[in-house]
Amino acid sequence: MDPLLTKLIAHVPLTGSIPQDAKAFLAHHQCLNTIEHSARVAAAAHQLATKYNADPLAASDAGWLHDISAVIPNNERIHYAESWGIDLFPEERRAPMIVHQKLSAYLARSLFHITNPAVLSAIRCHTTLRPGASRLDKIVFLTDKLEWDGAGDSPCKADLEAALQHSIDAAVKWYLSYLWQRRDTLLVIHPWFAAACQEIAANTPD
Ligand SMILES: [Fe+2]
Repeated sequence: MDPLLTKLIAHVPLTGSIPQDAKAFLAHHQCLNTIEHSARVAAAAHQLATKYNADPLAASDAGWLHDISAVIPNNERIHYAESWGIDLFPEERRAPMIVHQKLSAYLARSLFHITNPAVLSAIRCHTTLRPGASRLDKIVFLTDKLEWDGAGDSPCKADLEAALQHSIDAAVKWYLSYLWQRRDTLLVIHPWFAAACQEIAANTPD
């Protein structure tokens, strides 16, 4: 196994149960807040997937693993991504925090043996979304924002939940517009986020 992976997984006994293994791995690396956030995202994603006819178990697995690369400090994320041959946008090099979505997908496949491309995709774009997003991508993207890891409730929670009463797409559209209007406050404008916003605008009648 790659030495960086070996070091990360050393002394963590894996059982094959994603919730159990994600908790054990994050606890071993002292990422206790991430356990709590991931548990909430997994439960909410399972619920939304059940309601909106997606795969609830896939949603739960993606929820548990979406932030699994929290174990890699921000200032080492570029190094890890390069070592693992992960392609990076210039925007990701300027804001390494965003790289955690790609690193989490890599760890989900390499350490937690996730092979379902739908789960890996939902993890890979959970922060930025992407153009052509699947329903599972959208569910994990939205639940990450609804069950955010900041203090208290997300400032968007009530509006997002109201939009979700209509549909997943209505909630995605609301959130992307909300963020696009505040794009000047973002550290960088990620190309997948920009493309997802353009796609929504192109599909919305004037
Ligand atoms: Fe995340």
